Amino acid sequence: MKNIAIFASGSGSNAERIVEYFTDSEQINVKLFLCNNPEAGVIQRAERLQIPLVMFDRSAFKSGEVVKILQENQIDWVILAGFLWLVPKNMVEAFLNRIINIHPALLPKFGGKGMYGHFVHEAVVENKETESGITIHFVNEHYDEGGMIFQASFPVLPTDLPEDVARKGQVLEHKYFPEVIEKVILVNR
Ligand code: GAR
Repeated sequence: MKNIAIFASGSGSNAERIVEYFTDSEQINVKLFLCNNPEAGVIQRAERLQIPLVMFDRSAFKSGEVVKILQENQIDWVILAGFLWLVPKNMVEAFLNRIINIHPALLPKFGGKGMYGHFVHEAVVENKETESGITIHFVNEHYDEGGMIFQASFPVLPTDLPEDVARKGQVLEHKYFPEVIEKVILVNR
């Protein structure tokens, strides 16, 4: 059994989908949620789904305390599902090629510091893009720059608002993120 930990800073809809997907899995177990935002919707989801939740602040993240918690829980893989802080070097090194992020655009477009959530969808509409999509990639010490694993795209219509772009992206995220995680983990067993 491989244990995964899911980091989320917001609503946590992807985190919930991942839990659902692996409920009956004999190979992959969602062991822990970790959250840095006391206001995040993922906190209620953790309670409802009965997944243990660890709250942490910036100093615990930077000092390596969070890595210690992951190691104590025998975590094999880390999934970032709407997590908005840069991952510190100590964690990238402790989980080399074992951290996977999802980004709501077709990287390298609309990535980097400050490009997350609604900022991405607004930029896509402002730039009059005719398509956007999602990217699943490995995490290194730079925002949105690790090795690419998977992309899927959708058309953006001239009449689309940022919330339309967001909705289309989330449909793809919920469909593909769990199965891509499964494939990557099983291939790298
Ligand atoms: C997702 O759309 C994810 O791609 C995005 O945050 C959203 C979280 O939604 N991540 C980023 O922007 C990271 N740069 P959720 O909390 O409902 O899963």
